[in-house]
Amino acid sequence: MNDYDADRIREVLGRRGYEPTSDALEADVILLNTCSIRRKAEERVLAAASRYGALKRRRPEVVLAVAGCVAQQEGERLLDRLPAVDLVFGPDAIARAGELLDDVRGSRRRLAATEFAPPDEYTFLTAEPSEVGVTALVTIQKGCDNGCAYCVVPGVRGAEVSRPLGKVVAEVARFVHAGAREVTLIGQNVNSYRGADAAGGFAHLLRVVAAVPDLLRVRFTTSHPRDFTREVAEVMRDVPQVMPWLHLPVQAGSTRVLAAMRRGYTREEYLAKVELVRTLVPGVSLTTDVIVGFPGESAEDFRETLSLLDAVQFDSIYSFAYSLRPGTPALALGDDVAPEVKRARLHEVQALQATITTRALERLVGRSVEVLVEGESRRGGQVCGRTPGNHVVNFAPPAGTAAEALRGRLVTPRITCARTHTLLGQVP
Ligand code: 5AD
Ligand code: SF4
Repeated sequence: MNDYDADRIREVLGRRGYEPTSDALEADVILLNTCSIRRKAEERVLAAASRYGALKRRRPEVVLAVAGCVAQQEGERLLDRLPAVDLVFGPDAIARAGELLDDVRGSRRRLAATEFAPPDEYTFLTAEPSEVGVTALVTIQKGCDNGCAYCVVPGVRGAEVSRPLGKVVAEVARFVHAGAREVTLIGQNVNSYRGADAAGGFAHLLRVVAAVPDLLRVRFTTSHPRDFTREVAEVMRDVPQVMPWLHLPVQAGSTRVLAAMRRGYTREEYLAKVELVRTLVPGVSLTTDVIVGFPGESAEDFRETLSLLDAVQFDSIYSFAYSLRPGTPALALGDDVAPEVKRARLHEVQALQATITTRALERLVGRSVEVLVEGESRRGGQVCGRTPGNHVVNFAPPAGTAAEALRGRLVTPRITCARTHTLLGQVP
């Protein structure tokens, strides 16, 4: 979501005559797009803001702006805390970013713009991509109505609003026209998508998007386990463009902790959803998010997270130590798992998953797998892309073919070797 917003900010400012530079020393405007999902992300951005603040001492005319969810969360308080910051604006003010910057630069007034916009203004902010990669993100929804106890998103992104189906499809078509071959539909809870003109909800949207000419692949994220339906699994099974990859955040393996997190499902219900999707979409690649050290998580509860990871055998996971977020319901529960216990649990989760991920990747060795080539890989002379299950593959182009010529094309290398997080392949 944050990446998508950063691209929109670039476009909005580009239309206003701003040009991007990768050298902060020559910039007239330095803009930090921020995430506040966990405390660490927030701390990092505050450190960056003071670093760039130091740069302003030499060039006081530089404007320092903070955008995104930390901006939304802190609002004017950020102006107080960070004297070097001139402008603070939340995700809903992206459409006005150019005017806000001009205003600050013209008047040298410091500003905070963090009102939630009426749904239309944000959702109708259309992407106008000029340069795109092979893969693109398309937002289908903003905000979240769920209120999971640990989560800052409903507070900083506001109520859930779905983007009308016509707008989504038009945006996908624009990305494809600009060269994208794969889109990932993004939202906090895509399965509760209710576009004004989308009678069939998310499953219908997926079918319509998959039919956009020249689009080779569609992915989506994130799915809430409670709202993920058989119908969506059937679309994954029946529509070849919809990739067999499902990110289904479980968060914890203990029903007691899930209830305290207000996730709205039990361990057994989660496992039943996994069973459903594996039955309908054999070989589907599954990934998840896990939080360790949620308030009240006992050693026994934590064992249940480990046993769930072992039972499901995810292809990969993202795992996090719980951190308190401002304005969230879980603040009332305290933070009673000691930092070193959280760290040890995180370590244990990651060690277990490392062996599971390795095994999942090794199962692909020897098979021929279709890869959408995204570009040259960091290792010279090779290209990289992803399998349908979203695993990264690096391989050398066939003799006589330039890497560039394969960009955006489907190629079927044979997998020869599994690295820690990636695969190596070979084309005949
Ligand atoms: N502490 C730790 N992890 C969190 N996440 C969300 N909020 C918190 C928090 N307060 C994790 C969840 C979510 C992912 C995007 O970030 O696992 O799925
Ligand atoms: Fe946060 Fe829960 Fe909404 Fe995801 S579903 S954004 S975890 S409140």
